[in-house]
Amino acid sequence: QKQALIDDFGRRVDYVRLSVTDRCDFRCVYCMSEKMEFLPKQQVLTLEEIYNVAASFSDLGVKKIRLTGGEPLVRRGVMDLIREIGKLPVDLVITTNGSQLGHMAGDLKDAGVSRLNISLDSLQRDRFQRMTRSDKLDQVLAGIDAAREAGFERIKLNAVVMRGRNDDEVLDLVDFARDKQIDVSFIEEMPLGGITEHDRAEAYCSSDEVQQIIEQRYPLLATTERTAGPSRYFRMNDSDSRVGFISPHSHNFCSECNRVRVTVEGRLLLCLGNEHSVDLRKVMRANPGDRALLQQAIIDSMHLKPERHWFDLEDDEPQIIRFMNMTGG
Ligand code: GTP
Ligand code: 5AD
Ligand code: SF4
Repeated sequence: QKQALIDDFGRRVDYVRLSVTDRCDFRCVYCMSEKMEFLPKQQVLTLEEIYNVAASFSDLGVKKIRLTGGEPLVRRGVMDLIREIGKLPVDLVITTNGSQLGHMAGDLKDAGVSRLNISLDSLQRDRFQRMTRSDKLDQVLAGIDAAREAGFERIKLNAVVMRGRNDDEVLDLVDFARDKQIDVSFIEEMPLGGITEHDRAEAYCSSDEVQQIIEQRYPLLATTERTAGPSRYFRMNDSDSRVGFISPHSHNFCSECNRVRVTVEGRLLLCLGNEHSVDLRKVMRANPGDRALLQQAIIDSMHLKPERHWFDLEDDEPQIIRFMNMTGG
């Protein structure tokens, strides 16, 4: 029988988010600073090392692996890695900005990826450009269509709602998701990394506010459906699309946390909102190929998982210095 990963608060960890690169072709305002320095190659896990981490977690009973970034699909050779992880007995899912899906969606489906989460904060060109600092809206929209054609089990859009940037587009995004017959989640921005372009407290828009906006047009029916992730899902009575809310500030979900992250440097982060971590790269590079040692390091890390995050938007200094792209979303 496999040893289960259980932390000191009795939470079972069966979901791992693996960041495969810190690089991205976008520079979203909530995620990165405009000038990001990316990691030198030797600090980045090789594809083989990432596979070893994935296989170790799978051996330890993890059921769901989500690949993140940066933008996971811009890493060279990532399709080979995805094909290998796709053979493990896990639910393999990806979070992407969508820019590469036009040419990759079919291959991802064939490799065994079951579901995609695609970031989309605005349907308006100028705003999309201001939020992502890229002009690839058309490419993302084409990517969403390619993903639909490829036939994934589910596709979910993620929108970080920010006052003054896209809070008036909530209904448009819901209508877009309904039209495309996919899901959409609205996210409260989290304070990771020092960002100078906007004041996070001022931009904060609570999920309850977003929910009220949606309910002016579509009554939302609460569901108990979960994807083993943090979203709380609602249904509308005339559509298969689900509306989700990820509310780290207003509805803390830490007590149900079932996940850990591994950064592309091989840092096993026990919590998005804390620094507790274990250096898996060091373990792997000191003992190449020793899966048992790697697994032991993962098992031991469970004692480090903190009870919860303490995000505070009013803090002038970011509590968590690392940016989201260094964290793996
Ligand atoms: P599903 O598998 O579809 O449930 O995915 P997900 O919502 O877990 O993942 P996704 O990559 O789409 O992330 C959406 C948002 O949820 C991102 O902003 C993540 O940073 C955030 N998120 C995911 N896990 C956690 C967590 O443990 N804590 C916090 N605070 N936010 C999280
Ligand atoms: N707060 C909340 N969500 C964020 N994301 C990136 N940075 C932040 C942040 N600071 C979201 C992206 C993507 C997912 C991986 O994380 O929109 O959908
Ligand atoms: Fe779990 Fe940390 Fe996320 Fe809270 S912030 S849900 S404790 S990983």
